[in-house]
Amino acid sequence: MDIIRTTRELQERADWVRAQGRKIALVPTMGALHPGHLSLIQCGREKADEIWVSIFVNPTQFNQPEDFEGYPRTFEVDAESCRAAGVDVIFAPTPDQLYPNGAQTWVEVGDLADPLCGASRPGHFRGVTTVVSKLFLAARPHVAVFGEKDFQQLAVIRRMTRDMGFGIEIVGGPTLREEDGLAMSSRNVRLGPRARKQAQVIIRAIRQAERNIAGGERSTASLLEAVHKTIEEASLASVDYAELRDPDSLTEAPGKLVGPTLLALAVNFAPDPDGQGAAVRLIDNRVLLQSRQTDGES
Ligand code: PAJ
Repeated sequence: MDIIRTTRELQERADWVRAQGRKIALVPTMGALHPGHLSLIQCGREKADEIWVSIFVNPTQFNQPEDFEGYPRTFEVDAESCRAAGVDVIFAPTPDQLYPNGAQTWVEVGDLADPLCGASRPGHFRGVTTVVSKLFLAARPHVAVFGEKDFQQLAVIRRMTRDMGFGIEIVGGPTLREEDGLAMSSRNVRLGPRARKQAQVIIRAIRQAERNIAGGERSTASLLEAVHKTIEEASLASVDYAELRDPDSLTEAPGKLVGPTLLALAVNFAPDPDGQGAAVRLIDNRVLLQSRQTDGES
């Protein structure tokens, strides 16, 4: 496994691999790798001959300096996990490689990036689409894999790839969960012990919504009221957003659900009352009313 730090070297490697007729799959990450990331590496491996992982904590997608500074950085352990997972190349650039001094060019998707995380984290998706474009240009992959956990991010990246004609196949990977159902996330380690326990309310709210749907409930207002009620039972949790939207266009769902509908959740957790842990925002997504289960749960 090679660790490459400059875009020039990565492009040269990409040209060399492509010249041999071999396919490259890229898994972009910000590190602090967990089994969710590793499952995306598996997805990529099935689609290509070489599997490349980028590790870069992208400053332009953080809208709070504390979140950027406190983001876990565990490069040595990550490199070991990648090696064990059979990764061929890690791309770990320094910021100046992706943002040369004075960089002032952005890639920005329209309406799809406006609601949900786009509304509660202004500028976030502009940072994501800009860095992912740069990673695509540096790695020149045939395939790139992203998690369905970040449903809107996946939709925005698919759209950008299509609109910009990158010619890269975008693959979505299912959400891996902890035993109690909490979606794995690099941010989970920042929760205090009490907040970590309470974070189960997110999957509980999703399952409640699924049960209500199975019981015949179709009213958007009633479904969302139940979601809020479940989450607000946790003293450290507050709902950032809980919305039902069309899974393709991300426009608001009608008053009565008729077909597959995205339940999109973002929940803020406060530090534990004794001061342990940090303030952490967690997101989760589930498409309701669809026959295909995306993450193996019933
Ligand atoms: P990061 O949060 O490190 O996530 C990297 C990839 O892992 C994303 O595609 C994300 O959706 C996926 N992922 C996260 N948790 C997952 C889980 N529990 N199961 C399966 N996949 C999961 O998302 C980013 O980084 C950045 O925005 C990035 C795309 C790298 C751009 O900077």
